[in-house]
Amino acid sequence: MADMEKTKEEYSKYLSKISNRAGVKELAAYLEKHGLFKAPASTKYHLCIEGGLLIHSVNVVRLALELKEKLMPEKPEESVILCALFHDAHKVTDGFGHNTYDKNNTATSDKQPYFWNTKQFGYGGGHKSALIISKFVDLTQDELQAIAYHDGPFVPAWDDIKSDPYPLTLMIHYADMWSTWIVEKTKSRKYDGKFLEDLKTELF
Ligand SMILES: [Fe+2]
Repeated sequence: MADMEKTKEEYSKYLSKISNRAGVKELAAYLEKHGLFKAPASTKYHLCIEGGLLIHSVNVVRLALELKEKLMPEKPEESVILCALFHDAHKVTDGFGHNTYDKNNTATSDKQPYFWNTKQFGYGGGHKSALIISKFVDLTQDELQAIAYHDGPFVPAWDDIKSDPYPLTLMIHYADMWSTWIVEKTKSRKYDGKFLEDLKTELF
């Protein structure tokens, strides 16, 4: 629980840095009311635990800010924080009164911790996040694209913009992927340690 309190503190710290954007406080209050602090980050993959989404969101902000310093130093920090912190807003609610995940309370040993709520609005995840955030905050074009297409080529919608992804879109996508696959250690676990170096040694 102590770790969750630290994560909440980090979330609040980042939130307070978005000081020049009207509606952000209301957006945060809305998502918090609908379960931002309890939602998992996935049904059975990365951080499929209570509070997992908040941990993931903070991880993405932390990495996106590091990338921003190198790749987009001119970009306002609060724009990057806004996109990174709320890119997965759709994992809290669909914006129409439905929660995104239902806890799996069945007692089978192979159960996945959460299910998708089948009653929620049928709409792409990234686009749903952009829609929810837009109800409160006036987003720029590149913020809209970055949030709506943050899944990158992992979803078919990427075709819409594949010939013209904006820099912010690529940066948020990369921060999201690195957080999910490396920091939060899901399928990349097998690459821990010297796996790849050892493989090269075997080949030659
Ligand atoms: Fe994400």
